[in-house]
Amino acid sequence: MQTLTITRPDDWHLHLRDGAALASTVSDVSVNFARGMVMPNLSPPIVNTAQAQVYREKILAARPPDSDWQPLMTLYLTDNTAAEEITRAQASGFIHGVKYYPAGATTNSDAGVSHIGKASKVLERMQEIGMPLQIHGEVTDPDIDIFDRETVFIDRILMRLVKRFPELKIIVEHITTSNAVEFVTNSDKNISATITPQHLLFNRNHLLAGGIRPHFYCLPVLKRSTHQQALIDAATSGDSRFFLGTDSAPHTRASKESACGCAGCYSHHAAIQLYAEVFARADALDKLEGFASHFGADFYNLPRNSSKITLRRQAWQLPQASRLGNEEMTPLYAGETLQWQAENDAD
Ligand code: DOR
Ligand code: ZN
Repeated sequence: MQTLTITRPDDWHLHLRDGAALASTVSDVSVNFARGMVMPNLSPPIVNTAQAQVYREKILAARPPDSDWQPLMTLYLTDNTAAEEITRAQASGFIHGVKYYPAGATTNSDAGVSHIGKASKVLERMQEIGMPLQIHGEVTDPDIDIFDRETVFIDRILMRLVKRFPELKIIVEHITTSNAVEFVTNSDKNISATITPQHLLFNRNHLLAGGIRPHFYCLPVLKRSTHQQALIDAATSGDSRFFLGTDSAPHTRASKESACGCAGCYSHHAAIQLYAEVFARADALDKLEGFASHFGADFYNLPRNSSKITLRRQAWQLPQASRLGNEEMTPLYAGETLQWQAENDAD
């Protein structure tokens, strides 16, 4: 296969940041994608509908001329979120989910949920009105090994949550383990998961063997290759509960190449091309369109896109650097060669 035309994809999990960064992140994501679920972990976080509206307008203003790329907004769940805020968010028409960060789990998550029991009323309301819960699925207990934090979260928190709220729509974000794949596979249709390009292409050896490579550091952290293989199998299976969410998370080069480097891989310099690489290597390019362009929209009850993009088999070298506002960052797989390029088709 030399070319592949697919419905224009959507990204169901990405970070755009704020301020000067928006010009870079929004322009990158709008090249090949139609919509993006914009994570709310700004500082301070986006905790209500009014803040989401202001943020959305800034994002819209940062689009390149003629771009019709659409931001989909999500609220940051805190111990103080009120059930009424969920109803307001739903009525806005532009908020499509609520993000649950266990407090302290990752970048700007300090205002997250300290104990999920505190969110019972909010979760009840979400279940009732069909508002999806987007979960960063890691425990934060310092005594739990960082490589086990997702699995322990599933066992201790997620299983109970699903039992208590059986109809709640849940997206387990950026899954990294065979345990998470198994959990979703054995669940009902209201439970789904996003998978990032870094967790499909790499494992913890890429991060740690032969030297520590901070540009592969993200959270949840890369796991061993058997987990990577389980994720590849899930993404390329055609099971509609697994869909595209890059977790593209820009950090300046200086903040990653540091004695205490930030977590996050930036992938919107080449997101769909990175996924194409995975699907081509697995001989499953015929499954890419469902994963990238259909299943997420179906899960969120949004229409599928009508425009298309074409992927062409032609080797190219990824750039060494990307802009992040007035600074530089090192994007995922910088300087390496990919086999697939993307072209936009006329609508
Ligand atoms: O690696 C990550 N970076 N994981 C997250 O959960 C957050 C993200 C960020 O915002 O930088
Ligand atoms: Zn994220």
